[in-house]
Amino acid sequence: MNIILLGAPGSGKGTQAEKLVQNFNFEQLSTGDLFRKNISEKTQMGLEASKLISAGKLVPDEITNKMVEEYLKNGNKENIIFDGYPRTINQAKALKEILVLNNSKIDKVILLDVEEKILLERLVGRLICPKCKRSYHLKNRPPKKEGICDFDNSSLETRPDDKPEKIAIRLQSYLSDTSPLIDYYKTEKKLVKISVSNLTSEKVFEKIREALKL
Ligand code: AP5
Ligand code: MG
Repeated sequence: MNIILLGAPGSGKGTQAEKLVQNFNFEQLSTGDLFRKNISEKTQMGLEASKLISAGKLVPDEITNKMVEEYLKNGNKENIIFDGYPRTINQAKALKEILVLNNSKIDKVILLDVEEKILLERLVGRLICPKCKRSYHLKNRPPKKEGICDFDNSSLETRPDDKPEKIAIRLQSYLSDTSPLIDYYKTEKKLVKISVSNLTSEKVFEKIREALKL
């Protein structure tokens, strides 16, 4: 089963993908994580993407689709959680084509719906592990030892695009470029909307399990 986690920045896509990977036989494909890996390895693509990402803007479809195509060419085509991809109608169409060519498809799209006020609070308090990519939160999900990842002892960092002025640009791009995917996947009869504003991440996970019959 292939799943898309759709939702605004800070809606909990990464948090829920981590739980699905830990508890079931899923693999997470986060385009944000792939871009950040390329940035830290200073690849050509990383250099091109870096300025856009730290400004809170989307990377062009052409680059993003190519990166996903390469990823899928070399690995599994089943039991993938697409986290943060697709993010435009063009990307959704490209993904469909890539999967069809591999005799595969998207089975369900989970929309994590969160109020904007809560998104802001989550993003400004987020800390991430540069090594294992897990995300923490200063208040909601603090690490056991301040500033240190519970799993690999790396020093936690703040993402450069988690500054309030960059968050505003990311939210705007979610509204203009990504939210049309809600109707796109409704038409394909794949969308399940989960309202998650006041739910703990454990409760959200239960709802996702129900929706996926896991
Ligand atoms: P990406 O890394 O995908 O960022 P994003 O979509 O902005 O989403 P986030 O990772 O910020 O949030 P999340 O939903 O994963 O939330 P999380 O679980 O961490 O992309 C970054 C950039 O890369 C983009 O802006 C763009 O430039 C580029 N890019 C990536 N994909 C692209 C594409 N397809 N096309 C073009 N460009 C692309 O949770 C957030 C915080 O909340 C955490 O601190 C967490 O602990 C906490 N939290 C989570 N759930 C709960 C809960 N239920 N209750 C309380 N706190 C919670
Ligand atoms: Mg994420």
